[in-house]
Amino acid sequence: DNYCVIMGGGIGSRFWPFSRESYPKQFLDFFGTGRSLLQMTFDRFSKIIPIENIFIVTNETYADLIKEQLPELKEDQILLEPARRNTAPCIAYAAYHIKACNPNANIVVAPSDHLILKEDVFLKDVQKGLDFVKNNNALVTLGIKPSRPETGYGYIQSSDSMLGEFTKVKTFTEKPNLELAKVFYESGEFFWNSGLFLWNVNAILDAFAKYLPDIAVRFDLGKDKFNTENERDFIRENFPYCLKISIDYGIMEKADNVYMLCTDFGWADLGTWGSLFDLAPKDENNNAVLKNSNALLYESSGNVIAVGNSKRLAVIQGVEDCIVAESGNVLLICKKNDEQRIKQFVADAQIKY
Ligand code: GDD
Ligand code: MG
Repeated sequence: DNYCVIMGGGIGSRFWPFSRESYPKQFLDFFGTGRSLLQMTFDRFSKIIPIENIFIVTNETYADLIKEQLPELKEDQILLEPARRNTAPCIAYAAYHIKACNPNANIVVAPSDHLILKEDVFLKDVQKGLDFVKNNNALVTLGIKPSRPETGYGYIQSSDSMLGEFTKVKTFTEKPNLELAKVFYESGEFFWNSGLFLWNVNAILDAFAKYLPDIAVRFDLGKDKFNTENERDFIRENFPYCLKISIDYGIMEKADNVYMLCTDFGWADLGTWGSLFDLAPKDENNNAVLKNSNALLYESSGNVIAVGNSKRLAVIQGVEDCIVAESGNVLLICKKNDEQRIKQFVADAQIKY
């Protein structure tokens, strides 16, 4: 049977100040469609995966938000993490839980903060991946042809070895520095990791045992508690001690059974303001002015503008290629090119707020 795990516990710090720890970007409706990124992700998968097989893994603090946004889910489909440990422990938790529901499950793991423009193509690719992992002991990632030397993604090096449409992956490098990203980009051999993974539950549990034994050993101790009334207590006691690491660094960079399906489903990672700029409609001066903002612009171009509201007007002159965004008690003005530094700004700001 096929299962889906939606990871919805990130804080989206590069989208600060819109995305806050108390209300991260996956819960926001960026384009005024009435559905948040998380809801859109759920809607997509519910077309090919039985609703009762869709799980959301998130931090305990977002439990109410999830229930509010996805009332279709039963309580036991929301897996709650008592601590922030990044995506490897999140994926391990879901895998152990699903293994207890169905020892031979095929799983698609998805982020909750992406836009998919060509849904039909996407769903076909996911189905192909699920069929592939049913019969192959493989960790599959969906690869995207890169369009710039972005440093915020994982890079997958393809090889000549193929299994059907699936390419054996030679190397996987998570978030290279700019120099390396340029080499990868220019070589033409590399693809971006979309952050969507597919595997059989046994393949990923084997990978944890091999590459993140610290996490595997801990969860193995409570193996028979998953999907029982004892799961909550076991997770509360053990999860906070799991190694804090992403699946990309923890497993994908190390494993030797990684395969990639090259995809082209209009993928857009709303990871940063810059990615939103690329996608959003622009005014005649190439400014992406978000709905609900209220700004008068003069001699300004190439900006993402998310300031002003019905009570306050923002007047902006001579500003180029910047992010100008306010939310709550924070106003951010920052060069678009330097957006990777926002993580640092958030950390510094938190010392004062
Ligand atoms: N449950 C849970 N718990 N979810 C988490 C946690 C956590 O501790 N941390 C992050 N997430 C969720 C986020 O909400 C997001 O949906 C997804 O996991 C990926 O986390 P990000 O923090 O957005 O990762 P990234 O964007 O830096 O990098 C990943 O995605 C890129 C593509 O968007 C990597 O897989 C890269 O290799 C990839 O290129
Ligand atoms: Mg991301």
